[in-house]
Amino acid sequence: MAVLSISSDAKLAMAEACEVLANGDLVALPTETVYGLAADASNGLAVARIFEIKGRPSFNPLICHMSSITMASHHVTFDAVAMQLAQAFWPGPMTLVLPKREGTTIHPLTSAGLDTLAVRVPSGFSRQLIATFNRPLAAPSANTSGKISATTARHVALDLGEKIPLILDAGPAAIGLESTILKPTPQGVELLRPGGLSAEDVETVLGAPIIRKQQPGAAIEAPGMMRSHYAPGAPVHINASRICAGDAIITFGGQTLDNEERAAIRVDLSEDGNLTEAASNLFDFLKAADDATNGAICVAPVPANGLGEAINDRLVRAAAPRH
Ligand code: TXA
Ligand code: MG
Repeated sequence: MAVLSISSDAKLAMAEACEVLANGDLVALPTETVYGLAADASNGLAVARIFEIKGRPSFNPLICHMSSITMASHHVTFDAVAMQLAQAFWPGPMTLVLPKREGTTIHPLTSAGLDTLAVRVPSGFSRQLIATFNRPLAAPSANTSGKISATTARHVALDLGEKIPLILDAGPAAIGLESTILKPTPQGVELLRPGGLSAEDVETVLGAPIIRKQQPGAAIEAPGMMRSHYAPGAPVHINASRICAGDAIITFGGQTLDNEERAAIRVDLSEDGNLTEAASNLFDFLKAADDATNGAICVAPVPANGLGEAINDRLVRAAAPRH
């Protein structure tokens, strides 16, 4: 792991960071809120590495960091209210959850297969880096899952230093609190996560109250993790060993299922049994399977170690009874 100080050589930090990101590896970088663990958001294997390194037991959707409203507009659609908020508060500690645009290059793992994407334009060096790299960066806070968000390069180094090639140091994060997450809806703007931008400031710009999804002090339920977000149209059978004619098969590591010659589609998350590859294919394959079958989606067992835990979490949600 290398630590590069932005104040001592910004040019070197920029060049090294772009090179690491282009190679599909991760960079810990300062934003005004907290330090982020960043990957090229269009590279599924790189995004899978984020989950692996954080040790996240589930695929929480990630925030996609943009250099400008223009860059964001290639990937999501803004209605009038979203545009008003973006113009008022970007760059800054505000994230907007917006409908994904058809044809976006953002990898489905970044948004955990949802049809919305969380986007933010950060201020400072990270914004310049995104502009230079010329691609959005997916970045959760740069800490092991369940630990407190890192606000200094030293925190990142102590926690994740052995697992990542590059940490950029710009001193303590100015805000030290994650971004405020807002979702514009036809009923009004929902506050999904309180953060570094106050609700009052948002309401002043909107001229209307925001909708609080969360009682103050209540345990924070990660937004975007609700079970209903995760259901394909077809029923899902996990740990399947056989199928009915017309079902879709999602297998792993070359496993075969009984009756599989009668499948509508058969895809293998990773023929080599590589869980990082499997994670990057999961959401695409669930969608392809859902589109191909009028029956069920039968999923072969996936090992539960490493990223397999998050893959199984996602599959269990997909297989849960619907209401
Ligand atoms: O300040 C921040 O927001 C930092 C810096 C690095 O930008 N990032 C951060 O990311 O806090 P993370 O991954 O720790 O939190 C992202 C939150 C999660 O609670 C996730 O569920 C939510 O954003 N989220 C992401 N995409 C979503 C979506 N499409 N719908 C609803 N919630 C979403
Ligand atoms: Mg976090």
